[in-house]
Amino acid sequence: MLLRRRTSPHNRLLRRILFAAIFFLLNAHIFIYFLHHNDSPDEDIAALWDYNPDITIPRVHGVGKVFIAANHWISGKILKPFWINGLLMLIQQLGPENVFVSIYENGSWDETPAMLRELDRELERLGVARRVLIEAITHRQQVEEVVKLGDDKPGWVMTARGRKELRRIPMLAKLRNRLLEPLDDMRRRGETVDRVLFLNDVVFTAKDVIRLLKTRGGNYTAACSMDFNKPQYYYDTFALRDTNGREAPTQRFPFFAGGESRDAMMAGLPVPVKSCWNGMVAFDAAPFMREQQPLRFRGVEDSLAVTHVEGSECCLIHADNANTGFQSAQRSGVWINPLVRVGYNFPAYEYQKMHMYRWPEYFTSIPVRIGTSLLGLPWGKKQVVQRVRKWEGEESGRREPGDFCLVDEMHVLVENGWKHV
Ligand SMILES: *[C@@H]1O[C@H](CO)[C@@H](O)[C@H](O)[C@H]1NC(C)=O
Ligand SMILES: *[C@@H]1O[C@H](CO)[C@@H](O)[C@H](O)[C@H]1NC(C)=O
Repeated sequence: MLLRRRTSPHNRLLRRILFAAIFFLLNAHIFIYFLHHNDSPDEDIAALWDYNPDITIPRVHGVGKVFIAANHWISGKILKPFWINGLLMLIQQLGPENVFVSIYENGSWDETPAMLRELDRELERLGVARRVLIEAITHRQQVEEVVKLGDDKPGWVMTARGRKELRRIPMLAKLRNRLLEPLDDMRRRGETVDRVLFLNDVVFTAKDVIRLLKTRGGNYTAACSMDFNKPQYYYDTFALRDTNGREAPTQRFPFFAGGESRDAMMAGLPVPVKSCWNGMVAFDAAPFMREQQPLRFRGVEDSLAVTHVEGSECCLIHADNANTGFQSAQRSGVWINPLVRVGYNFPAYEYQKMHMYRWPEYFTSIPVRIGTSLLGLPWGKKQVVQRVRKWEGEESGRREPGDFCLVDEMHVLVENGWKHV
């Protein structure tokens, strides 16, 4: 005999709550869907990179002059068709006279140098001011140098492997600073620049960049995109810090632990953060152009790095920018524009374009949020804090303004790339 139990009032209440929750979430979902529906899912994505040099494109106004900076190393797969065409289409919209392109390539062994030379020729034809530097250096040449244990050479530290090795971050800072060299000449010539835009080797469209440049109507010290390598997971954990200086505890939407940054991310609004890089970043150019101590990239001091503490040059630059007291009422704060999402490959780009504020990413954010709060993520970095304190105590005047950037890591260069040690 089949016995059917009658639902108890308790169960009925539970069911009602469940229905209410589903109803609420669906509404939220539909609301967010309409908020973002201008990225029409049926648009022909591949056509976004159809560069046609012979057509006139309506100009975008109100952005000003943009200094576009990019390092390239073995990025042939991204350069064609995405990066190069994205850049050329961006220049068509901003106007060739409103951009300066600075590219630095360092010893790639794929088609990168050839592709960049071809781009250089096209920029020439368009009349774009630029510097495209292609250099044939290798890691082997850099790490070959043997630094004796007793010698102090900037950038070289003693590692747990019992030898002096070359740190990766100061090298990256140097590479990025090389991109900025033309700014010095421009300043001397009295030329002005409004924004400095860094583009990683990512898939992006001209529309993405223009949206980024127009974040908050241009009211930002820095504005970043969000970057994805695997389709569902954001990539640059090394540089991203929320308004409280905390790391993002999860690589999945909505990334941040509870607080201002996560609320804005959930709502699809510009997300205030302390630091970001994440694929593309536009800075107010003023701090880079000032005569006294212009803003540049750096790593932490070797004496701190040797204690197994490292920080990304892309995070430290935000710390330094805030620390040098640079302020502007018209352009303030560091923000992520969650409507600008780029990928280190096409599948990741396409996935996030379609799914971040829709099914399934917006919905799976529920278990993601519950999980991170149950685990109490992100966990503090007690050891790092202690090491920094000890380092500061050892010599007067020692201070690291980018303490929120620091992690318990050590990166050194090796012959075919780099390594955690
Ligand atoms: C070239 O630059 C990239 C960063 O853009 C870096 O990862 C790579 O190690 C550099 N290679 C050499 C040989 O310096
Ligand atoms: C720029 O944004 C900041 C921070 O939100 C705000 O205080 C300031 O009033 C804004 N400036 C303008 C000109 O809108």
